[in-house]
Amino acid sequence: MEYCSNIMALFVGGSPAGASTTLRMSAMSALAAALVVTAAVCLLSRMIWMRIISPQAVRDGVSGRIAKQLPPGSMGWPYLGETFQLYSNNPSCFFEERQSKYGAIFKTRILGCPCIMVSSPEAARFVLITKAHLFKPTFPKSKERMLGPQAIFFQQGEYHAKLRRLVLRAFMPDAIRAKIPAIEEIALRHLSSWEGRFINAYLEMKTYAMNVALLSIFGKEEQSYVEELKQCYYTLEKGYNSMPFNFPGTLFHKAMKARRQLGLIVARIMSRRRERGAHHHHHHSDDNDLLASFMGEEALTDEQIADNIIGVIFAARDTTASVLTWILKYLAENPSILQAVTEEQEELIRRRGETMGALNWSDTRSMPITCRVIQETLRVASILTFTFREAVQSVEYEGFLIPKGWKVLPLFRIIHHSPENFPDPEKFDPSRFEVSPRPNTYLPFGNGTHACPGNELAKLEMLVLLHHLTTKYRWSLSGSGSGIQFRPFALPLNGLPIKIDRSQNVQQLKI
Ligand SMILES: *[C@@H]1O[C@H](CO)[C@@H](O)[C@H](O)[C@H]1NC(C)=O
Ligand SMILES: *[C@@H]1O[C@H](CO)[C@@H](O)[C@H](O)[C@H]1NC(C)=O
Repeated sequence: MEYCSNIMALFVGGSPAGASTTLRMSAMSALAAALVVTAAVCLLSRMIWMRIISPQAVRDGVSGRIAKQLPPGSMGWPYLGETFQLYSNNPSCFFEERQSKYGAIFKTRILGCPCIMVSSPEAARFVLITKAHLFKPTFPKSKERMLGPQAIFFQQGEYHAKLRRLVLRAFMPDAIRAKIPAIEEIALRHLSSWEGRFINAYLEMKTYAMNVALLSIFGKEEQSYVEELKQCYYTLEKGYNSMPFNFPGTLFHKAMKARRQLGLIVARIMSRRRERGAHHHHHHSDDNDLLASFMGEEALTDEQIADNIIGVIFAARDTTASVLTWILKYLAENPSILQAVTEEQEELIRRRGETMGALNWSDTRSMPITCRVIQETLRVASILTFTFREAVQSVEYEGFLIPKGWKVLPLFRIIHHSPENFPDPEKFDPSRFEVSPRPNTYLPFGNGTHACPGNELAKLEMLVLLHHLTTKYRWSLSGSGSGIQFRPFALPLNGLPIKIDRSQNVQQLKI
């Protein structure tokens, strides 16, 4: 059910996961009723449809000619399609089964959406790069409203390019290198708060990633507002995974209220900055953060800024936290790899010697073993199982028709777990990244104009945390074994409960 509800969230814009039990029940029955009605309507229209044209051919919207064949695969039941098959198991099994049966491109239908799923590097390149303009990002309307309709994920064309430039400016190496001391401070504060305790790795990593995200957005100045902002964000988050019923009392309703509150807080922070700017003429030295980039010469409207700030928090936090959680799990399960990482990090401390200096940018660039652990974790865990696009017009690929309006899903996880791309794919083996992967076989951050612009910051905050974690602490997994859940990002079962202690080595290293 965990799989279902949350993948379902991607399709219908809500899932019962976060709802209270009673709301969950009523939401489920409302959904069921809706499905039955729609299914009946669909069954009728499908019968008419099958009489008029062959089920394998679709009329080309523009020229009226009958275009090429649809890819192989089953559209399943009317409306429902293969929804139950997808949700009754781990979604990876669903994808793998169909991929081995039909090949690297197949069709299906999930909750009323006809879909084409692609799982070869060439097809991913086609959708994300060469014909990117024909495949637009697509999200349920309720998600758009909640995060902010002008946020970067929902855009295309010129406005998207401008936003991307502004985000990249704040997240490129030159901008984030100055943030290392502040990130280090956050990492050390979290680590010492975990010392000697049983913690839920995922929940703790979420607060770490949240604090780094807020630092990179607002700098160190606006801390007084940040607490209030966090509280609103948590309310928003609870509603994000609930059914989109907007009436008083529902989580969705509370989330929409929190969303408006967030807009007001961001507006207050901006007006404070404008005041400060007016007094000082030039920008404060700390203002190389995302907000400064958004408020710069190419100024966006206040609403656009708020939408994108909330969007960036959303994109940055749970993803980074999931990856860090997987890293802790894989390292704990592979003691020789943990040993190699620890030695690499201790070597950096030795090199730093008596000066006791903090980490600097060039230190973070000389952690090859740790970097490969991050890369391999991104591959094996593939926390973003797939991404979504929608065909803006009918397109032909390899003799197959991709009809206008259909969803197109590049399946990153399948690409990352193909033995052709990565021999012995289930094995956790960071050394495979001693050789660069072939183009478009390794896409943890996507590729093309919608690729994740925050990847450098994400890597940096992971390296900084791992440096201090491996040299000063040790951790052990407490129970739960090898389960996996999707929220919607792939995550070790129950968020990986662990026990963290101070390491014995610390004395020897004279830290
Ligand atoms: C970074 O720190 C290292 C010591 O860990 C030092 O050798 C190096 O010169 C420093 N680099 C810069 C650019 O400050
Ligand atoms: C992204 O696509 C381009 C063009 O196909 C390719 O050269 C590049 O290697 C790809 N990036 C990744 C990470 O595979």
